[in-house]
Amino acid sequence: MIDLHCHILPALDDGALDLADSLAMAREAERDGITVVCATPHIRDDHDIRIEELPDRIEELQRALDSNGVRVRIAQGGEVAQFAADGLSDEHLGAVCLGEGRCILLEPGPGSMADELLAVAERLLERGLHPIVAHPERHAGVDFEARLAALAARGCLIQWTAEFIASVEPSDTDGLMQRLMRAGLVHLLATDAHSSHGGRALRLGPGYARLREILPADRADWIERAPQDVLRGAPVTPPW
Ligand SMILES: [Fe+2]
Repeated sequence: MIDLHCHILPALDDGALDLADSLAMAREAERDGITVVCATPHIRDDHDIRIEELPDRIEELQRALDSNGVRVRIAQGGEVAQFAADGLSDEHLGAVCLGEGRCILLEPGPGSMADELLAVAERLLERGLHPIVAHPERHAGVDFEARLAALAARGCLIQWTAEFIASVEPSDTDGLMQRLMRAGLVHLLATDAHSSHGGRALRLGPGYARLREILPADRADWIERAPQDVLRGAPVTPPW
């Protein structure tokens, strides 16, 4: 499995506190069967991230994982805030794409989704990038389903937090989440883990297991395989 959203780089944003924390997170990933973790530090005003430094930081962490026998590969990435995306150069955007491809993880602004999110996504698409909208469950408003559908119709992918998906009750067949799943608005799962000391675990297995209880096997298969295409830059268009 591949985790496309994780704050695993040490002492950088509000993620891993130090190298020991990063190592513990990677071990947690390894136990879950995750082989690749995208390092997606926050790219926004309130975190002092130098995009130029990210390749060296990734390499440093990779060396530490290798020398400690942790079989997890760290891939490049970033979590670009809605309000930061327009101000980034093409070079900087390219440097925080997920893996080798052109997918960019886009963090909605605080609160419920607003028109501006779709506008920012459209500008990213015009610049040749493929936006992946992060953790929509934190940005639900009255017109949640319509906004998600509009983003998907425009070509955005929707990434839900694995732990949140694992909490969807299979018996709640009339609930909003199952409706969104059946409507094809769940494209990707990721952990958005920040630390081994608390918060969300670096674990995808329970989220995928819950998806399989609710969705047809072919759709669950696609969702679980899609991160490979995201990382290698192959086209990622849901077949539904
Ligand atoms: Fe995040």
